[in-house]
Amino acid sequence: MDDAKAIDAAKEQFGKVLKEQLQRIERIKGQSERMDYTKLDKIVVGMLGGDGIGPYIAEDAQRVLEVLLKDEIAKGKVDFRVIEGLTIENRAKHLKAIPDDVLEEIKKCHVTLKGPTTTPERGDEWPNIESCNVAIRKELDLYANIRPVRIPKEGIDWMFFRENTEDMYAVGSQGVDVTPDLAIDFKVITSPGSRRIIDTAFKYAKENGKTSVTVVTKANVIKTTDGKFLDMAREVAKNYPEISWEGWYIDIMTAKLLDPKRRKSFQVIVLPNLYGDILTDEAAEMQGGVGTAGSANVGDRYAMFEAIHGSAPRMVREGRAKYADPSSMIRAGAMLLDHIGYKDLGHRLSMALDICGQYERKLVMTGRDTGATGKDFGEYLLETVNDPKVQSRWEGLVYA
Ligand code: IPM
Ligand code: MG
Repeated sequence: MDDAKAIDAAKEQFGKVLKEQLQRIERIKGQSERMDYTKLDKIVVGMLGGDGIGPYIAEDAQRVLEVLLKDEIAKGKVDFRVIEGLTIENRAKHLKAIPDDVLEEIKKCHVTLKGPTTTPERGDEWPNIESCNVAIRKELDLYANIRPVRIPKEGIDWMFFRENTEDMYAVGSQGVDVTPDLAIDFKVITSPGSRRIIDTAFKYAKENGKTSVTVVTKANVIKTTDGKFLDMAREVAKNYPEISWEGWYIDIMTAKLLDPKRRKSFQVIVLPNLYGDILTDEAAEMQGGVGTAGSANVGDRYAMFEAIHGSAPRMVREGRAKYADPSSMIRAGAMLLDHIGYKDLGHRLSMALDICGQYERKLVMTGRDTGATGKDFGEYLLETVNDPKVQSRWEGLVYA
């Protein structure tokens, strides 16, 4: 193909992307109020096992949640539903990020708890379909990826608000190989998309006694898109005069998370999708590893909760799946409880995760038979949640 033809083909692809994105902006603008779960007669919770260690840690998490919600389940107020078919084999078979029937089932649930899933990459053994995490986030418009990281003994209590539907992820599988030598991907930042995530972060700060918000971009270099994100922060911040805010660049932010003196001062952090992906892995590693961190993917109507790590197929191949740490999934479960209105249970479970994982450590997960199984660790967590003495001792010590 000569260059002129290649450019025309690329323009056509670019035109399609622009059209889709303009339509998406209209959908965002037309959005309704946030769902109030406390008003529902019945809350349907879908369980998506995923791949690799996913089904194992999903089961550990479901067991814990079912014990904690025993009375609600008995009353018919909460209903758990297992949704099959979000495996890489089934996705590859249908050549779809989310097979249609699975998506239909997901949409019948108010919230879902999802195990890690395999994300294909060009050149691996699977067809190069879109990541199903990304597809679910876009399909259900789960625009806020909320990731807490806490290290109480160091005074660290971070809440990350990662934008979840835009940036390099918006059309990550629709880039253009213009010629064999030239590849272009698209970074998409919209005003309403930025405004809603930044507003979610400021609102969280206001409602939770936080005093500052850090907005992370690389607006000095990526002037148009990151520049817009920062402009939106300036605009939104005006509605929250009681909250101070600062813009930081992603490179220095990445460095400063490692600075013991500086890092304590960060509270609420809001950032575009890809920076959020990377920075939250770094932060989770400080808390004890990505295996300890959960996340909430929240939109106005639906929400999906998940671990922040991958599916660790090697652990399954080596027969170690039952020793996989379910903390991330259970942390996501605690966020789910909080989101659907069981705030006290969510808080106690999340505190139990800190106590068992960072302080008491009566059972330790090592990922192999030298440590506890996920099932035993789940039981240890439940004992801790249900022991008021342990709870109040730590509440005073750690969360004072
Ligand atoms: C995450 C993961 C996903 C992402 C992958 C699996 C597509 O890394 O949830 O952070 O990049 O968002
Ligand atoms: Mg990630």
